[in-house]
Amino acid sequence: MQILFIGDIFGRPGRNVVREHLASLLKEHAVDLCIANGENAAGGFGLTPAIAEEFFDLGIDVITTGNHVWDKRELVDYFNAAVNEPYSPARRVLRPANYPLGTPGVGLYEGTSRAGVPYAVVNLQGRVFMANIDDPFRVAERLLERISAKVIFVDFHAEATSEKVALGWYLDGRVTAVIGTHTHIPTADTRILPGGTAYQTDVGMSGPYDSIIGVEKDLVLHKFLTAMPGKFEAAKGNPKMCAALVTCDARTGRASAIQRIMLGE
Ligand SMILES: [Fe+2]
Repeated sequence: MQILFIGDIFGRPGRNVVREHLASLLKEHAVDLCIANGENAAGGFGLTPAIAEEFFDLGIDVITTGNHVWDKRELVDYFNAAVNEPYSPARRVLRPANYPLGTPGVGLYEGTSRAGVPYAVVNLQGRVFMANIDDPFRVAERLLERISAKVIFVDFHAEATSEKVALGWYLDGRVTAVIGTHTHIPTADTRILPGGTAYQTDVGMSGPYDSIIGVEKDLVLHKFLTAMPGKFEAAKGNPKMCAALVTCDARTGRASAIQRIMLGE
């Protein structure tokens, strides 16, 4: 089974570069499940229901998010409207599962792939250099107890490499893949851990690489040089699509390969 995970789609440049490549990638690699992190898809900050549904139309099955999930109010309404609607497309948009109890939305999606393979997608957020939410390790543990699918994909949206690799080892052998998002910089540590879990600290963003993690360089440089607040805007230059392709056994959920993908315009 082939799973394609697309890193943080950032603003219009990210949406365009993904649109340009996705159909051929899905076909070329016979992708059975496609997941993308979309928390920066709307102008670099948040996600709207319209953009989420555009992604579904392109062939993305499940969308994960992270700390920017609340940036667009419409997404909260989208989550709330889907509370008693298990088949609503809004259920395929996740927020980190370790947000406090009662937060709108859910952090787990359980579905069936195009080829009929049951799978689960879990979205978690780190706590190191980020908001102090619930423990992602123990929340993962609790979720695993109730997931029956063997193919389990985890997007760990976190800042610190230590916390990310720790979760990778913690879940090794129990999930198909632990892949990090949030830093927008792809890391070269794709590997299969001994228990059969595909791992990468950060898949990198799908967005403008002539930028500072997606934002116009001058605006971020001004902040570093003056320590004064300023409005951030999405950059445009040099868009690239970053993704990871995970190959796994559909019956056991164990991964056998992980490949980094970076494509330009
Ligand atoms: Fe983030």
